[in-house]
Amino acid sequence: MEKLLKGKLPRHIAIIMDGNGRWAKKRFLPRIAGHKAGVSAVRNVVENCRRLGIEILTLYAFSSENWNRPSREVNALMDLLGDFLKSELKEMLKNNIRLTTIGEIERLPGSALKCLQSVCEETADNDGMILNLALSYGSRNEIIKAVRRIVSDYSEGKLTPSDINEERFSRYLFTANFPDPDLLIRTAGELRISNFLLWQLSYTELYVTNTLWPDFRKDDLIKALEDYQKRERKFGRTSEQIERENWKGKMCNPKDG
Ligand code: FPP
Repeated sequence: MEKLLKGKLPRHIAIIMDGNGRWAKKRFLPRIAGHKAGVSAVRNVVENCRRLGIEILTLYAFSSENWNRPSREVNALMDLLGDFLKSELKEMLKNNIRLTTIGEIERLPGSALKCLQSVCEETADNDGMILNLALSYGSRNEIIKAVRRIVSDYSEGKLTPSDINEERFSRYLFTANFPDPDLLIRTAGELRISNFLLWQLSYTELYVTNTLWPDFRKDDLIKALEDYQKRERKFGRTSEQIERENWKGKMCNPKDG
């Protein structure tokens, strides 16, 4: 951790936690064993991000497409979520972590939903780090919902077409109150976005590792962060412009160098 530049850490990390099934298959275990092992990796990454001072950690825990998995697996994932929330509440309160969610959480079974809402409420005043769980989340669906709400606000005379810009549109998304992710980590090697944060990832740095999610630990996180710190984030500008701006910044704040 010491090697990382404190001033150049991402504010918001998003993770596609993939490879639980493959992890289990390699061990001749049922898929659910992979998800259980995945929960330990969740605990670990939350703790390490908190220690590093990451502001927001968004985890893709259950996609809207995951409802199509065998019901046994869906039920097991919902039970794991409930157990995780019950067992982590104390830790979240102790460590000043706030739980939030994105996605159609109303589709979750009653018991998991109740747990989720109660942990979100109990941790609402915590301001150390935000753990944001994407549950029953699909980005195309999120965008369609946003468009529906915009059309409805328009028909009620609350906005005009020229009011709509990128900033205003973002406020209609589930992620309305969050900055876009700076870094997206995907485990288990697949090179795709899987309907995750399509709007929000426009300028996010992507990092894919072959490590399967249940094996993802501190060293893997550090590797992703070291890689991120080597990237030049240009947001469409040239390297020369960025250098000039950094130089100007240093002249204004010489102590920050
Ligand atoms: C993808 O692996 C993972 C998921 C669909 C679920 C992620 C869930 C967890 C890590 C555990 C529960 C989470 C919380 C927050 C308590 P996969 O099953 O698609 O793996 P595969 O591609 O190797 O089959």
